[in-house]
Amino acid sequence: MSGFGRRLRREFLLEPGVDFINHGSFGAPPLSVLAAAERWRSQMEANPDGFLRDVLPEALRSAVAELARFLQADPADLVFVENATAAANVVLRSLEFKPGDEILLNSQSYGAVRQAVRFVCDRTGAKSVEPHVRVPVRDAAELLAELAGALSRRTRLLIVDHISSPSGVIWPLAEAVALARSHGARVLVDGAHAPGQLELDLPALGADWYAGNCHKWLFAARGCGFLWSARDAQAHLHPLAISHAYGRGFAAEFDWTGTRDFSAWLAAGAGIRFLTELGVQAARRYCHGLAVAAAERIARAWGEPLGGPPAFHGFMMAIRLPPHWQGAPTRESAAQLQSWLMREQRIAVAIMPMEGALWARLSAQIYNEPSDYERLLELGLRRPG
Ligand SMILES: Cc1ncc(COP(=O)(O)O)c(C=O)c1O
Repeated sequence: MSGFGRRLRREFLLEPGVDFINHGSFGAPPLSVLAAAERWRSQMEANPDGFLRDVLPEALRSAVAELARFLQADPADLVFVENATAAANVVLRSLEFKPGDEILLNSQSYGAVRQAVRFVCDRTGAKSVEPHVRVPVRDAAELLAELAGALSRRTRLLIVDHISSPSGVIWPLAEAVALARSHGARVLVDGAHAPGQLELDLPALGADWYAGNCHKWLFAARGCGFLWSARDAQAHLHPLAISHAYGRGFAAEFDWTGTRDFSAWLAAGAGIRFLTELGVQAARRYCHGLAVAAAERIARAWGEPLGGPPAFHGFMMAIRLPPHWQGAPTRESAAQLQSWLMREQRIAVAIMPMEGALWARLSAQIYNEPSDYERLLELGLRRPG
C-alpha cells in the first residue's frame, strides 16, 4: 500500500469536509513548514535588530543554497522573490523595450503575466503577440509550430510556460528555447507550477530567466517565489523595489528590498525536506498517476475531452465541463461556478474558460486519493431540475 493519500491530510491544516482538488492555485504548506517559518519569525521578533542585521544575510544565502541544490543551479544566480508574478515583473520591467519590439506569449499564458506585458507595452510602444494554442493539445509539434509561426526578427522576448495554468500542459521547453534563440529572442520561462512537479536543472534549460514558485508544489509557506537568471542576463536586472544594495550585484540587490517578513523564504528548505523525506520520485509517480486516473475517469463519465494527452501533464489535468455547466465561457462565469462549488458543495476545484467553453482543472497532491474526485464526477452527471 502506498503511504500517500488521505492519511497525509493530517500533515496539513486543510479543513475537513472539503474535497481539496485544487492544490495548483495557491498550494498548501504542511504543518512542519509552517512551524519552521514560525521558528524563524520568533527568532526575528526576539531581537529584530540583531536578526535583520547580523543573522539574516547568511541565513538567507543558506536558504538560497538549499533551493539552488534542488534546482541544480548556482546560488549566485538565484534570488527569492514574493511569487512568480513578481519574478516575471522583474524581468519585464528591467528590460528596455522600444516601439516595434514584440513580446511573444500565447493564448495559454497566465493572465497576470499577460497584464504585466500589457503594462510594459503601454509604456514603451512594444507589442504583445499571442498565437492561439488549440486545446485539446495533440502533440509538441503543434505547440512549437504556433511559436515558430509567431516568432520574427522583431521578437525581443519569448515568455513560455513550463506548465500552462489553464490546461496543465507541460511545454516542450528545450525546443521552444532553441526556436527563440534562432530568432535572436531572449527567453523568460514562467515556471510557476514546475518546481516540485518536474525534475529541474535550470541552467540546462538554456533560458535567460526562470520565474518559479516554491509555495505551489514545493510545500513552502506562501510568499515564496524565486527568480533564476543566467549569469550574462543579470546585469540589467533590478528588483521591483530598489533599495540600499542598488548597483551591488544581482544577489545583493534582491536579498534586501526593504523590511519584510523573511520567514517563508528562510523556511523554504523545510518544504524541500518534506518532499525528499516522502521520496521525490515516489511522490511524483503518485501525483501524476492520480491526476491522470481521476481525470480520465471523469472525462469518460462526462463524455468530455481532456485538455491534452496524459504524458503532457504533471499533477494537473483539465476536463471540459458537461453542457449543463456551460455558461458564458468567461472568467466571470468560471469564477461564479467555482465559488458555487466551494460554497454549496465544498469542492475546491479550478474552473477555467478555454476554447469557448468552461473546463475544470484538477490537481493531485500527496494528500489526495481517488475518492476526492468522486463528488465532482457525480455532480457533473446531474442535470438541473
Ligand atoms: C503559469 C502561471 N504563472 C504565474 C502564476 C502566478 O503565481 P503567483 O500568484 O504565485 O505569483 C500562476 C499562478 O497560478 C501560473 O499558473
